[in-house]
Amino acid sequence: ARLPELLQAMPKAELHMHIEGSLEPELIFALAQRNGVALSYPSVEDLRKAYAFTDLQSFLDIYYAGASVLLKEDDFHDMAWAYLLKAQEDNIRHTELFFDPQTHTDRGVPFEVVIKGLSRACARAKTELGVSASLIMCFLRHLSEESAFETLQASLPYREHFIGVGLDSGERGNPPEKFARVFAKCRELGLHLVAHAGEEGPAAYIVDALDVLHAERIDHGVRCVEDPALVERLAKQGTALTVCPLSNIKLCVFDKMDAHNLGHLLEQGLKVTINSDDPAYFGGYLNQNFLETFEALDLDAQAAYTLARNSFEASFVSEADKARWI
Ligand code: ADE
Ligand code: ZN
Repeated sequence: ARLPELLQAMPKAELHMHIEGSLEPELIFALAQRNGVALSYPSVEDLRKAYAFTDLQSFLDIYYAGASVLLKEDDFHDMAWAYLLKAQEDNIRHTELFFDPQTHTDRGVPFEVVIKGLSRACARAKTELGVSASLIMCFLRHLSEESAFETLQASLPYREHFIGVGLDSGERGNPPEKFARVFAKCRELGLHLVAHAGEEGPAAYIVDALDVLHAERIDHGVRCVEDPALVERLAKQGTALTVCPLSNIKLCVFDKMDAHNLGHLLEQGLKVTINSDDPAYFGGYLNQNFLETFEALDLDAQAAYTLARNSFEASFVSEADKARWI
């Protein structure tokens, strides 16, 4: 088969997807109308035109504003359901979805409303779409340690609804150390641990995510190449990097796709996966990320197989499920 068809058809897992980043402008407008929320853009087209980013923070400002239309349990359900339908189209068998409770609780939306809406969509996906979906709760690193602890506290009654915790939002100036005690507590609770590191921040943040937070996977991690000893360590340990190629281009981490280091990371023997990060904002869902990356970097069917296998191996599903999918 031709490579694009193979990329489309092959079963895969997605491990780095912020559910709030799947909110398409059309759905933002529909939810704004449903909830009587005023938007600062007159039309869907005007909102989409504002999606021209210069760095991570310029994106986050618009992304948090977009999330302001989410108020009711059904809003969270409908957002996640729209993504899960796309996941099925892209032949995603399993997805681990990030959500940012503080973006909502800080606006007065109860934690319960967020998690119930998202969980309901995940449960439906399993039975109605054949897509397995789990939730990973992220702490916003620009907020305080205290706020993260409050969020963890609020989540405990819903412990069975999520499988782990992550760390996202503005990386520069918010090192992993800031959340050392929160992650230690989460570790005691038996939660899986991941963290964004080495997207805009230095390679040292990846080292600290591993040593201080005990992260099991590194989200992005592309700046690891600045520290050869770290690259060797990641390869030896088999630590997965959840790389997001279209995101990296849109947020100017790399100038253009030909300049992306994903091929180099694979050659170094790193456990690389391809993911969409915030597909509604970055120009495509998972298969679009595969297509554009393979085209620009001239990757072959062997690389496709490696990336698909890595996505299941690096996931937090049972060994039995891994054996079924790989
Ligand atoms: N939140 C949503 N997308 C993100 C990204 N790429 N980096 C950090 N925080 C995020
Ligand atoms: Zn991310």
